Amino acid sequence: MTTAQIILDADFTLSELDPRLFGAFVEHLGRCVYTGIFEPGHPTADSRGFRQDVLRLVQELGPTTIRYPGGNFLSGYNWEDGVGPIEQRPRRLDLAWLSTETNRFGTNEFIEWCREARTEPMLGVNLGTRGPDEARNLVEYCNHPRGTFYSDLRGRHGYPEPHGVKLWCLGNEMDGPWQIGQKTAAEYGRIAKETAKVMRLVDPTIQLTACGSSHRDMPTFGAWEYEVLEHTFDEVDFLSLHMYYQNPLNDVLEFLGNIEIMDRFIREAVAVADAVAAKRRSAKRIMLSFDEWNVWYKARGSQYQEPTGWPEAPRLIEEAYEFQDALMVGGALITLINNADRVKAACLAQLVNVIGAIFADPGGPAWRQTIFYPFRLANQYGRGTVLRSQVRSKRYSTKTAGDSAQILVAPVHNEGERQIALFVLNRGTEAPTEIEISLRGFPEIKRAQAVALQGHALSATNSAGDPEKVSPTENPEHDLKGDRLMAKLEPLSWQTIVFNY
Ligand code: AHR
Repeated sequence: MTTAQIILDADFTLSELDPRLFGAFVEHLGRCVYTGIFEPGHPTADSRGFRQDVLRLVQELGPTTIRYPGGNFLSGYNWEDGVGPIEQRPRRLDLAWLSTETNRFGTNEFIEWCREARTEPMLGVNLGTRGPDEARNLVEYCNHPRGTFYSDLRGRHGYPEPHGVKLWCLGNEMDGPWQIGQKTAAEYGRIAKETAKVMRLVDPTIQLTACGSSHRDMPTFGAWEYEVLEHTFDEVDFLSLHMYYQNPLNDVLEFLGNIEIMDRFIREAVAVADAVAAKRRSAKRIMLSFDEWNVWYKARGSQYQEPTGWPEAPRLIEEAYEFQDALMVGGALITLINNADRVKAACLAQLVNVIGAIFADPGGPAWRQTIFYPFRLANQYGRGTVLRSQVRSKRYSTKTAGDSAQILVAPVHNEGERQIALFVLNRGTEAPTEIEISLRGFPEIKRAQAVALQGHALSATNSAGDPEKVSPTENPEHDLKGDRLMAKLEPLSWQTIVFNY
């Protein structure tokens, strides 16, 4: 059994963890909304068409914020189509996903659903086909108390109280050639700045995110961020990052090397944002919103079938997640937590069916995909102050990431709960690894408990027939002696260890 050491010290802190790090994403795409969260006629649907089986799983997963309505869909969306009497709402061609959008579900239904799901909405404004005028109207519709055209319209639609939406995205992936209304950095920077300005005039309390690059491999990554922030620096709070991780070599260690790449991506975006601040001699720091991240490689490329005939809610990018994908998601969560000083919001993309943590059959059952578990556990215990950790473990090398540590950890100290949570990924592939965790500067540790994702075939998935094939193991082997804990990590496993003092 190989050994590794982890040292934590109560005084070595990184940052408060913003709970908005554990957000998710709902797009009008495929079956995320229709036959995902919303399915009138489903045996569990309530009178509004909200699937209660899915809603219960969302409550269990606990995303703190949910980004909506897209995604690529956003760049062709008229928000006015999705409010008011349902029978008067237009059916539209959705050019992003070549589908028919019925508009039976729109902003008000989403906000109502968010309240039931106990989460906060993060809304996007369309900067593809539209601009500042529609954006300021939407803020007025959602957030202005009453007495103006759009706030009173909301009242007539059955929502007299303002929705109070705090987080807003200024468009989506505007650098992407696939985006409806793609823009250059200068074009986007200008429109984003002017849109931000009028949105804030309507409601000065909102927080705004400017689009970063669609992903780190975009040829203009870095230059795009710099130019966009040169325009928007004074108007926005966040810069967005998007990235989906793939497994092109079908090699688990190469795949898990993406965890280091995610970390580099965050640091690079911080460096660019801070370069803009430096040029302006500004003390302001732009924070990051990693508002699309996940694993996505099976249902894409040649596996992706474009819809034909403008179907409603077709099956699109319905990834069946494997055990190894849960390890990657667990590692990505460790990276997000370890960058909590600059990443203040993030969205697992997406929530249901479409590259979703939850899968729901139309008319049938809903279940937890493998990636549900690391997210739920990190979200449940990841509250408080992120600590810096000292880790000594074996190292190895991959083509993807170069020199890497076998053991990755993220510790979070919750003083109110008298609790320290440690999220641990073991990328060792053969024998179990024994880890020794030393806790310095904390009161006497009274109890330790652990939950592990371990012991499954890398390709194991959950399905309607076997919905809990991949699920966590309670209390894997560990031994607490004073301020030290010895724990056994199975090869290729992810654990949450919780200490109480
Ligand atoms: O999440 C799926 C798609 O991926 C989103 O619509 C888009 O923003 C990204 O490219």
